[in-house]
Amino acid sequence: MFETWEELEKSIIDCKKCKLCAGRTNIVFGTGNKNADVMFIGEGPGADEDKQGEPFVGKAGILMNNALAGLEIKRENLYIANIVKCRPPQNRVPEKEEATVCLDYLRNQVVLIKPKMIVLLGSTALKNILGDEYKITASRGKWIENKEILYFPTWHPAALLRDENKKIEFWKDLKEVKNKAKEMELSI
Ligand code: URA
Ligand code: SF4
Repeated sequence: MFETWEELEKSIIDCKKCKLCAGRTNIVFGTGNKNADVMFIGEGPGADEDKQGEPFVGKAGILMNNALAGLEIKRENLYIANIVKCRPPQNRVPEKEEATVCLDYLRNQVVLIKPKMIVLLGSTALKNILGDEYKITASRGKWIENKEILYFPTWHPAALLRDENKKIEFWKDLKEVKNKAKEMELSI
């Protein structure tokens, strides 16, 4: 565990801790406010994210940005990252081993940021952060408190591209996040 961002960022530059290093153009470390009250965690970089080195800048990211903008949630107030920081081939789900080794970095980021709330985008984020016993269909839209952090699972934005109903639920979920954050006087 590193105590500063500088040390943590330096430690990851040439990371080869898992086989996803072979296919990457850029490590997608995470972006946003390093003092964020609210974090968003996705699955892993896609092609656009790999190219640009930033999370959620592709099709799914644009959908998410539109929802955030519509609800007046400022992306720059959040910190956004993924379970794995290198792009899985063909955008497959990260393997348990890959997620486990990469999670050391994300946990370190969480320790440095000290968020009050973490929005888990989709099943991969949910299972790797809270445990394999959680199912996204049963857990989405519900608050789960764990070690003084409020977790809120919702659909992964890529799932919205295929299902209009999920778009409505995602919107409703983000509205709930915003309301709760306002109630707790968090910046969002
Ligand atoms: N999907 C994710 O899970 N993360 C990204 O950064 C982009 C797409
Ligand atoms: Fe390292 Fe994570 Fe990339 Fe694997 S996915 S090589 S652990 S940064």
